[in-house]
Amino acid sequence: MKWVGGKSRLLAQLLPLLPPGSELMRHVEPFFGGGALFFARRPERALLCDVNPSLVATYEAVRDQVDRVIAHLERLSAAHKVERYYEVRHRYNHGKRIDQPERAAMFVYLNKTCFNGLHRVNRRGEFNVPAGRYDNPRILDEGLLRAAQRMLQGAELRCGSFEQVLTAAKPGDFVYFDPPYEPVSATASFTAYSQGGFGRADQERLRDVYAELDRRRCKLMLSNSDVPFIRELYAKFRIDVIAAPRAINCDAKKRGLVSEVVVRNY
Ligand SMILES: C[S@@+](CC[C@H](N)C(=O)[O-])C[C@H]1O[C@@H](n2cnc3c(N)ncnc32)[C@H](O)[C@@H]1O
Repeated sequence: MKWVGGKSRLLAQLLPLLPPGSELMRHVEPFFGGGALFFARRPERALLCDVNPSLVATYEAVRDQVDRVIAHLERLSAAHKVERYYEVRHRYNHGKRIDQPERAAMFVYLNKTCFNGLHRVNRRGEFNVPAGRYDNPRILDEGLLRAAQRMLQGAELRCGSFEQVLTAAKPGDFVYFDPPYEPVSATASFTAYSQGGFGRADQERLRDVYAELDRRRCKLMLSNSDVPFIRELYAKFRIDVIAAPRAINCDAKKRGLVSEVVVRNY
């Protein structure tokens, strides 16, 4: 999945920061998104959560019915063109009796062909991202889907807000938090995740969850932007800085690198 805030370009900096012995720990991710860290680590046991129900249902279909997802994607991929994108989007939003593997295939299709891999819905919950401009998008990657299916075998998937890890995390779990980032400036407050943004009150509730899991002796790692508000929230924990490529900026001059924090309790 192409996902806003995806961590694939930061893996080389994140992997060395994992706790010693993490191979044997259960991997817990309450803001799963595209799951770059999970798919790079391939842990045997995992608990993966996200507030986006369509995303979670897509992973469930890939885990449990990958052949049917692939068959639907073959058809969607063969017929792809820009006008077709809008037909699929319409059916995805309004179609009746679409089963889970087909819905998952449509979700992957829209993700691969929409503008910048964004996921945005309107107030009625309808996916409303316009078509992207790709000459030949890779819509079906069968080998990748089958690899994802294998890696998800030991994973429990849950839809809901991050607080639910409070009832699930156990001592010795490794928990990676990758929330929507605190904006670096007022104009950068662009959150394209799901209905409703993720504001300061959410960041504070997240810090409280972090502190509670610290008391529970989980191993914790969290990513966020390097801004004073976040540094203050996590002042009593260990903070490292990494350099990240700026994800979205229409102004080419502002693309460059931006620093992010990684907060750990070990
Ligand atoms: C920065 S992205 C995670 C990116 C991911 N690490 C990757 O590599 O693709 C943040 C994710 O948090 C989810 N999210 C937003 N608010 C949430 C909440 N309150 N609880 C749980 N997940 C939430 C979004 O749907 C999004 O997938």
